[in-house]
Amino acid sequence: SSSSDTKQVPDMSHEDLTNKVKDICEELILSHESLREVCDILEEELNKGLGRDSNPEAAIKCFPTYVRELPNGKEKGRFLALDLGGTNFRVLLIQLGEKCSMDSRIYAVPQPIMVGSGDGLFDHIAECLSSFIKERELGDELLPLGFTFSFPCKQEGLTKARLARWTKGFKCAGVEGRDVVELLKQAIARRGDVRIKICAVLNDTTGTLMSCAWKNHNCRIGLIVGTGTNACYMEKLERVELWDGDQDMPKQVIINTEWGAFGDNGCLDFIRTEYDNNIDRESINPGRQLYEKMISGMYMGEIARQVIIRLVSEGLLFGGKSSEILEEKGSFFTKYISEIESDKNGDFNNCRTVLEELGLNNATDTDCANVRHVCECVSRRAAYLAAAGVSVLLNRIDEESVTVAVDGSVYRFHPHFHNLMTEQISHLIKPGMKFDLMLSEDGSGRGAALVAAVASRSESR
Ligand code: GLC
Repeated sequence: SSSSDTKQVPDMSHEDLTNKVKDICEELILSHESLREVCDILEEELNKGLGRDSNPEAAIKCFPTYVRELPNGKEKGRFLALDLGGTNFRVLLIQLGEKCSMDSRIYAVPQPIMVGSGDGLFDHIAECLSSFIKERELGDELLPLGFTFSFPCKQEGLTKARLARWTKGFKCAGVEGRDVVELLKQAIARRGDVRIKICAVLNDTTGTLMSCAWKNHNCRIGLIVGTGTNACYMEKLERVELWDGDQDMPKQVIINTEWGAFGDNGCLDFIRTEYDNNIDRESINPGRQLYEKMISGMYMGEIARQVIIRLVSEGLLFGGKSSEILEEKGSFFTKYISEIESDKNGDFNNCRTVLEELGLNNATDTDCANVRHVCECVSRRAAYLAAAGVSVLLNRIDEESVTVAVDGSVYRFHPHFHNLMTEQISHLIKPGMKFDLMLSEDGSGRGAALVAAVASRSESR
């Protein structure tokens, strides 16, 4: 076990320990030059994704969404929404109009279903939908439904989306390359007890953008920093060589960048560390989603754990003694980072609670300060990388004032993420541009309803 092969702890002062910890964490700190470099490369990679000839080889796919219009605030009606792809699977009932309301229920997606057969997954979704409709006695109406499916999809229309590949923890056989709307319809048909009209399939970033744009007319970007990370933005049709839809007004379309795959061709190797390599190697999708693996909630805690383990093995934390729990992959939850960084300066209450949960009961104040430093380095790097991404999109859009709609557990719950991002974006964008990051309430619910509503508005013209 790890505690038996502990190195002899050299007799170091607290100051020496802290300095050594800082040295080791140094490689997680991105210089301004590196961040600028990341921006330049991302700009190129986005252009590759948007170019007709370069797209097949591009890491960042820049999928056109077929959502061309933003909501005008007057949308109304009753909608169902399905939300798959975050921590939870949800079914929602949304009322848009003068009086808005929302009712939703969370259903578990058991691990075996996440990595089982495609039919198993869609049967499960259909079953949850059916029980929701029965509970709410919605069976009589033919309700329009928006399907938030938060994985990279090549869309062929507003209601047709072929899964390019699974990301995050999912890996269901027989779905890649297939239209997920069709698979959902088939599962519903197999049951025969649900009547709905699927009006739109969308990514969570699109939902987030739409939900915020409903009341905020400067909104042009949707960002998620949650289990995964991704962004979408409103792009001019003339810059989307890939576009094969009509050229009608408005000459714009929301692009789902799928920037989580940034770096999959090696272009971010200059900032990646041994910790990032370990995480990638042990993941369900090695070599994929490398930018996402440096930023999002599915991985941040594990990065911190890797650093902590290394510090322990060098005798720089906890007197060189690890714990059984700490040695287990995945035991350092991303929410621990938020909790530890929420401690007010000088006190380590949350930090001690977390360490105790991990079976580390004798941490000194120096240990706590150093663990906190690790967390800060990891979360700051994530926030700065996400900021670099947003800056590139802001510079592309090049409007005087742009609102960025943001959602996701990391952005929501980390105590400094918003400020870190805001500060870094202002260093990276063109001088004079104004922007703000706004928490977008319920992109996957209200956003899905809005896409469905806007779709029926365009249809009826
Ligand atoms: C992953 C998915 C992407 C989604 C993001 C946030 O990157 O591939 O579609 O938007 O996670 O949930």
